[in-house]
Amino acid sequence: MLKINIISIFPEYLKPLELSLLGKAQEKGLIEINIHDLRKHTDDVHHSVDDTPYGGGAGMVMSPQPWGLAIDEVSESSEHFDLIVLTPAGKKFDQKMAKNFASKNNLIFACGRYEGIDARVSQYYASKSNFTVHEVSIGDYVLGGGEVATMVIVEATARLIPGVLGNPDSLKEESHTLTNKDGSLVEYPSYTKPANWRGLDVPAILLSGNHGEIEKWRIKEAERRTQALTEE
Ligand code: ADE
Repeated sequence: MLKINIISIFPEYLKPLELSLLGKAQEKGLIEINIHDLRKHTDDVHHSVDDTPYGGGAGMVMSPQPWGLAIDEVSESSEHFDLIVLTPAGKKFDQKMAKNFASKNNLIFACGRYEGIDARVSQYYASKSNFTVHEVSIGDYVLGGGEVATMVIVEATARLIPGVLGNPDSLKEESHTLTNKDGSLVEYPSYTKPANWRGLDVPAILLSGNHGEIEKWRIKEAERRTQALTEE
């Protein structure tokens, strides 16, 4: 079973993880998600989690001490842990990374805010033999913090775990799973009834019953869409 621990100063922000597909996956015991408040690990009256940057500059940096205590608390066993630190400076998240995370047993998400987390936190855990540290970004833009990025990654990862999706065949032909010789493709366009809607017909090939030709058409369409995205 995949155990996910998420550390944030806004635990409420992560409430949507209890809903829908992920809520059901937890009820079924396929995944376990625990959300932790970083401020629990502060000892000053203001429960402060940040401080001014060494070397000067704008903004605040998250202090290493509460992060160390919070991560230690959720990694007390001698198991292996994958620590995912959310930062716009990280490696770009993609379907391949989601597949890798879905094959793990223990994921810890560190949701940074402000100008990020003191760099020694990643350095320290990367030096421990039972940890792998991944600094991950969900795209080339800056969010207010890592919470939304964590939700994106948890959702994309959890749906790859056997049993989480009602129909496992859904995974077979979706975007970024289809490949041709040039790499991963986005999905072909989909249609359902009615066959004519507001004067627009469903492509006739899809009504032909010729599965070989339908398959060829879908691959062509997936290639066309993928190509169009790179031309924009
Ligand atoms: N924190 C702020 N921006 C982010 C991004 N793009 N990805 C991950 N974490 C972030």
